[in-house]
Amino acid sequence: MLEFKVLTLFPEMVRAVLATSILGRAERQGQVRYTVTDIRDFAVDKHGTVDDTPYGGGAGMVLMAPCVVEAVEAVRGRADAPVLLTSPQGERLDEALTLELLGAAEAAGEIVVVCGHYKGVDERVRELIAPREVSIGDYVLSGGELPALVIVDAMVRRIAGVLHDGASAASDSFTVERGGGLDCPWYTKPPVYRDLEVPEVLMTGHHARIEQWRREQAQARTRERRPDLLPGSGGDAQPRR
Ligand code: ADE
Repeated sequence: MLEFKVLTLFPEMVRAVLATSILGRAERQGQVRYTVTDIRDFAVDKHGTVDDTPYGGGAGMVLMAPCVVEAVEAVRGRADAPVLLTSPQGERLDEALTLELLGAAEAAGEIVVVCGHYKGVDERVRELIAPREVSIGDYVLSGGELPALVIVDAMVRRIAGVLHDGASAASDSFTVERGGGLDCPWYTKPPVYRDLEVPEVLMTGHHARIEQWRREQAQARTRERRPDLLPGSGGDAQPRR
């Protein structure tokens, strides 16, 4: 069973999300285990201090190295377990990186995810732990909890057996299985809503034609919205704004 060990200053926030929906079900079904550790338990003094002003001056607070390094050392079960640090300066998360991280985590049986915080983390954490830094996009969030939860969610739904219908994950947008492109449009009941009808082909029960329609729709959508994802675009075509 794969163990996710999350280090955070806001354990209640992280636990609440990990207990919900597919993430929570994966744990209840015994496919994963989440261990959430409060970095404050490793504070440098009895007042629970975990951050301080930056040397050299400047606005904001920096997360101190000792509490982070000691928390990682305390929870890490194996020296080869991957350690991630959420950071806007990290490698940008996509489906390929998600699968690579999942592979490394499964090989070790665990992964440690450190939620970065405030202005940043003392640079010596990088030197002592050499975490893999991961960004969830080119914008800055107030803390590393949401990015950590995004990373864990993206990984957990790719673990074999977590989604009831394994084909569902494989057909989602961006997956390697669908060539890295976007997904097709989906419809469910009612068949007519405010004069809008479900495309006729989907009501025919003709599986080959339905599959072909979905493939064409997915390709058209990728061309129109994300030409940068098309094979051969080199990834440099601009996504639609
Ligand atoms: N911390 C703050 N912003 C972030 C981002 N975009 N990705 C990962 N960690 C972050």
